[in-house]
Amino acid sequence: MKKGRVFSGARPTGRQHIGNYLGAIKNYVALQDDYDCIYCVVDVHALTTMEDVGEIRENTREMMLDWLAAGLDPERSIIFVQSRVPEVLELYTFFSMITPLGRLLRIPTFKEKARMQPDNVNYGLVGYPVLMAADILLYKAEVVPVGEDQAFHLEFARETARRFNLLFGQTFPEPQIRLTTAPLILGLNGVNKMSKSLDNDIELAASPEQTMERVMTAFTDPARRYLSDPGHPDVCNINHLHQFFTDSADRSAIQEACRKAEIGCVECKRILGSNINKALEDFREKRAEIAAKSGYIDEVLADGASRAEAIAKETIFEVKQNMGLI
Ligand code: TYM
Repeated sequence: MKKGRVFSGARPTGRQHIGNYLGAIKNYVALQDDYDCIYCVVDVHALTTMEDVGEIRENTREMMLDWLAAGLDPERSIIFVQSRVPEVLELYTFFSMITPLGRLLRIPTFKEKARMQPDNVNYGLVGYPVLMAADILLYKAEVVPVGEDQAFHLEFARETARRFNLLFGQTFPEPQIRLTTAPLILGLNGVNKMSKSLDNDIELAASPEQTMERVMTAFTDPARRYLSDPGHPDVCNINHLHQFFTDSADRSAIQEACRKAEIGCVECKRILGSNINKALEDFREKRAEIAAKSGYIDEVLADGASRAEAIAKETIFEVKQNMGLI
């Protein structure tokens, strides 16, 4: 007997990075044991920021390869593309009628995106959290595994569930956020969150050489300018990343050596790069195997869409009934 339903989604940004993995995908995989899980490639959300819409299909394929190789199991979980189940757009429209515009304009992620693309502050960008609430509530998900950067959106989805229930009667559960132990991974510049658009990421599917090269460009403790300066692992992003790829005895030894200036940043990064490569060896092998199966991803997504649609139709019927539309 499963404990309930899980939903999560990600924009089709292509190859996933270790921030996506540690912050979200790790939980997607783990939750499959105890929950009915639904994972969605949110292509409609991507349209709010995407410059080149033509990339969405290829990006979806690359992302699916990462998800499947990381352990998402289409036998146990529903995996699908958002636009293939158009009921979400109905719910999005209904929710938009009960959402105060002022509330959306105050959401920090909207302000941030509006700042980043001042020439394209489109209507969909303002409604982004409404569509995300529709994603989650359409499937009546109780648990939503995401990174910390999605916390405001989750809070908004909870509010939307409460508002709808208050206006039209109990319909939706209030979804709970589920964070991993690494809810926010910083990028290689050590300042912003790791993200593809900031080009500060390490892709899961990168080659060992590319991975090592990327790690070598990472910023470390800014106070350590010379090899002879003692380091401060507590403020060093490389040390933070070691936490997820290096076993604890080795990590303590590296920290100790760093504090005494017995190991340099280059060596410390080389160890990290090599441990990331070791940790991802099986993943990369499995990814190549899946990529070689022609038509497999399309099959997974078609099957996922039809299973998702069956649930979506039930919810939309209930929603319309509760709203008095039918
Ligand atoms: P997206 O596509 O930006 O990211 C996908 C998932 O990866 C997490 N993540 C991170 N976690 C830790 N450190 C990082 N540097 C990092 N970068 C990304 C994100 O938190 C996310 O969990 N709005 C969502 C997509 C979405 C969604 C949903 C999520 C649409 N509908 C419904 C959950 C439920 C987004 O843009 O994620």
